[in-house]
Amino acid sequence: MKLLIVNGPNLNLLGQREPGIYGTDTMEACLEQLRKHYADHEIAYYQSNVEGFLIDRLQQANVDGTQGIVLNAGAYTHTSVALHDCIRSLHIPVIEVHISNVHQREEFRHHSMISAACRGVICGFGLNSYRLAVEALILQAPSNSSNK
Ligand code: DQA
Repeated sequence: MKLLIVNGPNLNLLGQREPGIYGTDTMEACLEQLRKHYADHEIAYYQSNVEGFLIDRLQQANVDGTQGIVLNAGAYTHTSVALHDCIRSLHIPVIEVHISNVHQREEFRHHSMISAACRGVICGFGLNSYRLAVEALILQAPSNSSNK
């Protein structure tokens, strides 16, 4: 499958940012492991701190043959009607991901503006949340015989 992982604001700082919450591993290390583990699949990666750039990349994925998206929208998760609308406009599944368990954290993190537009939500498993989301996309793929 051709998959895309998209990270939103401040997730470029993984490894340095609040390690007590987000751990000390970098996204680069996570991607390396994912690409090794899912060698039969193509896993592209995009990160931006800018809401509009995230939307541009998601819209591009909709027309470039991408078959599934893993999205950690960071803080935009809790605020962005624009991302909600964008996800609804796509014909490919999007899995919402969070590294931390947002429900154990501040109340403003308990609500997601994007969950209702996503195929599913995975949160609280550290960087393994990305792997679980990739797994979900592969399992749910229309061509996967275990779906039949
Ligand atoms: C996050 C949780 C968000 O509340 C926060 O703003 C982030 C990261 C997570 O992966 O746990 O930037 O999406």
